[in-house]
Amino acid sequence: MDRKTDLKGRDFLKLLDFTAEEIAYLLDLAADLKEKKRKGIPVDTLRGKNVALIFEKTSTRTRCAFEVAAHDLGMGSTYLDPAGSQIGKKESIADTARVLAGMFDGIEYRGFGQDIVEELAKYAKVPVWNGLTNEFHPTQMLADLLTIREHFGRLKGIRLTYMGDARYNMGNSLMVVCAKMGMHFTACTTKKYFPEEKLTAQCLEIAACTGGSITLTEDVDAGTKDRDVIYTDVWVSMGEPEQVWEERIRELSPYRVDRAVMENAGEKAVFMHCLPAFHDLNTKIGAQMGERFGVKEMEVTDEVFESGQSLVFQEAENRMHTIKAVMLATL
Ligand code: CP
Ligand code: NVA
Repeated sequence: MDRKTDLKGRDFLKLLDFTAEEIAYLLDLAADLKEKKRKGIPVDTLRGKNVALIFEKTSTRTRCAFEVAAHDLGMGSTYLDPAGSQIGKKESIADTARVLAGMFDGIEYRGFGQDIVEELAKYAKVPVWNGLTNEFHPTQMLADLLTIREHFGRLKGIRLTYMGDARYNMGNSLMVVCAKMGMHFTACTTKKYFPEEKLTAQCLEIAACTGGSITLTEDVDAGTKDRDVIYTDVWVSMGEPEQVWEERIRELSPYRVDRAVMENAGEKAVFMHCLPAFHDLNTKIGAQMGERFGVKEMEVTDEVFESGQSLVFQEAENRMHTIKAVMLATL
């Protein structure tokens, strides 16, 4: 571990703000914390501190990861749910930031625009961690990188293809981390869903320095041939209107991850997904879409999701170890 890296007091808002060395440091710290947890060695050096967890959108993994990690580190945590606080409705972000910073040592925020979490960080004198915005999902990225590194033993040179809506938090974030870590990123989807031009240009510049690459393609065969990682996410994200389901299913069905995609990627390829996933009809929305549009699975087939190539549950567990690393490093 690089002993010179010091992230104390830093916000964790998007990975564009971090160097490859700092990202690698957080991954090393997470791997160490994971090993210690496995061996039953406590790391509770943040005893006496408290964190606020603001969720303006729902969550299973991110909330649980922050709560368990905070508890393991010896901290108290307070969860503010999407309906149960004054935030945005009766109190501005700037006022909320100053109130919470007076009581807590760190603040997690999940919500809508990236500008909101940036504003929160501007006014809070304690570290602010982005637990997902429309634009970025940086804590998910650390879990994904840790999972890829555990599986392949390296990040540099890994070829990752993202299928689906690549304009949103997951596509953007994966493009950024691939560029930063010298990986090869492909967005494989229709042009309409390509990441926005400015961010793509920025990532191309970063990739030119790290040996990574960025490819945008509509061609499923070329975009998924000989890949290490095939990644997808839900076609409709939290906060988007219900009416977009019909067009998303129509436009993104050719980019569903199925057996043919995984075979094209190669037998050593792995499947990843941030979760939650629509891979069967065993969810309320999955069943509704099944009835309305006659689809029994959406972004990924049940066969791929449940296959030996799928790393999704290892990836989900790694949310906790990596979020613990972020809190430990910045507090
Ligand atoms: N992957 C992820 O962020 O999951 P949650 O929405 O359950 O937190
Ligand atoms: N793109 C998804 C990610 C969920 C973890 C969403 O924003 O809903």
